[in-house]
Amino acid sequence: MPETPRSRPPGAAPKARPGKAQEGGAANPKAASAAKKPTARRRRPTPRRRAAGTRPKRPAGARPKRPVRRRKAGKKVSRRDFTALAVGWSMFTAAMAVGLTTVGRFLFPNVLTEPPSSFTAGFPDDFAIGVVDTRFKERYQVWVVRDEEKIYALSTICTHLGCTPNWLEAESKFKCPCHGSGFYITGINFEGPAPRPLERVAVSLAEDGQLLIDKARLFKFEAGQWEDPASFLAMT
Ligand code: FES
Repeated sequence: MPETPRSRPPGAAPKARPGKAQEGGAANPKAASAAKKPTARRRRPTPRRRAAGTRPKRPAGARPKRPVRRRKAGKKVSRRDFTALAVGWSMFTAAMAVGLTTVGRFLFPNVLTEPPSSFTAGFPDDFAIGVVDTRFKERYQVWVVRDEEKIYALSTICTHLGCTPNWLEAESKFKCPCHGSGFYITGINFEGPAPRPLERVAVSLAEDGQLLIDKARLFKFEAGQWEDPASFLAMT
């Protein structure tokens, strides 16, 4: 009587069928035993395992050595590198120059140097009668004039809005280029918007006999100050 799956104890291998066992088992016993044994599954070696098989084993804890790069002796600088270096250094130098200039300006600020308010203008005989001496106009803003009786000095500041008039020898007058005010050789205004005469400055004799002109002292005609002996040097 054939064995049914129900009558087989648990864990027991099924018995070969009588018919088939006779066919395979009798003809090829090896094949029959191979068919009985469970086949072991072969694992394919991975590239890592393959490499591990050929690579020499490293002691535990040792770090792999990195290949040492050695610079080539006498390596030439390329044109691109040279240009980049030149541009970099130029910018660095320019920045340093600007910084140093700023610091220098901070440490040594501009100082306005003005000429002194008083100065010697030469000996009285150096001035001709009826002549306006313009030598001191640029530096000291003063004209020196000599007439029959005295030497006086006029401020070159127009009494309208402060421009600097010019002495016109041919017309014997001071003419302001800004708005056309005109002044006689005495400094009295006679044309244009200037509201009053030019101002005079103090004139005296220095110890060496030269004219000493002091711009710190001003004399106004409208205030009657031109009569002040300090406003002129008498020549009579
Ligand atoms: S400033 Fe001289 S005329 Fe106006």
